[in-house]
Amino acid sequence: MSMIEFHHVSFVYNKKDPNRYDAINDINFNIEENDFVALVGKTGSGKSTLIQTLNGLLLPSKGYTKVKDFIVTGDKEIIKKLVKEKKYKKTELKNFSKLRKEVGMVFQFPEYQLFSETVLKDVMFGPKNFGFKEKEAEEKAKECLKKVGLDASYFNRSPFELSGGEKRRVAIAGIIASNPSILVLDEPTVGLDPNGRKEILDLVKKIHQEGTTIIIVTHDMETVMNYANKVIVLKDSKYLGMMKPSELFNKDDIETYSLEVPPFYKFKRYLKEYGYKKDISEANDLASLINILSEEK
Ligand SMILES: Nc1ncnc2c1ncn2[C@@H]1O[C@H](COP(=O)(O)OP(=O)(O)O)[C@@H](O)[C@H]1O
Ligand SMILES: [Mg+2]
Repeated sequence: MSMIEFHHVSFVYNKKDPNRYDAINDINFNIEENDFVALVGKTGSGKSTLIQTLNGLLLPSKGYTKVKDFIVTGDKEIIKKLVKEKKYKKTELKNFSKLRKEVGMVFQFPEYQLFSETVLKDVMFGPKNFGFKEKEAEEKAKECLKKVGLDASYFNRSPFELSGGEKRRVAIAGIIASNPSILVLDEPTVGLDPNGRKEILDLVKKIHQEGTTIIIVTHDMETVMNYANKVIVLKDSKYLGMMKPSELFNKDDIETYSLEVPPFYKFKRYLKEYGYKKDISEANDLASLINILSEEK
């Protein structure tokens, strides 16, 4: 069994309205435990909609999203079937509080979710909400703040007076303080400078290395290339495929995916276009490319 499964997932906004909009359409794929998955696609392709089915913020209009043993669906036929077969109780299919502890969700501009008067209190909110006692929540919050690189001098500061990157790290600390096994981040580096961006991504990498499954929505193909082990492409509400990042960027028809190609892969294309004959298809980092280029003929 995969950690996460999408089974024919579709979602329609404003279903009963003339403005109805099919934001995602018949999506099927699986994510394995401890994957680091990048979800990419043009603005409006359905990325944010899809990930919100992971913790029941949005319920698929058709099909279902499965996370471990939890099922998320608003599809009446599926609910009826699962209840009839006694696989789930109706109440289990409507209550997502346990699921939300498993799936930590960092939204776009997570700093807007900060609200407490001190950094420490903000990070304690999640664990307290999930039933930790005051003292335990405080210990957990301190541990997570350390993990995101904010030492004790930050604990009693107002989250609102921090830099953009620091605010995001506080928000991430608040999410991981509930020990989620899956962390979902929707464009977490938008608006940060290169340093802030790298800090956030290296932090996500560390959280991944400690055993958390990661799904990150991004427009930044360098992030895909340098951090993810798999990339999933959405286009016009549909799933185009899941592959290794190098496989995606080496595709001859990558234009059809409407993505920005990283400079490294653009350079490989130029080499081919300008008549370089040796096989460079296996070179997916600068060192191996230089190796091939500098070999004797
Ligand atoms: N609350 C909403 N009501 C109606 N349409 C929406 C809503 N949220 C998103 N959409 C539409 O659904 C489509 C997919 O949106 P979204 O999942 O946010 O895409 P992405 O995250 O890839 O940019 C877009 O065309 C968007 O306009
Ligand atoms: Mg989005």
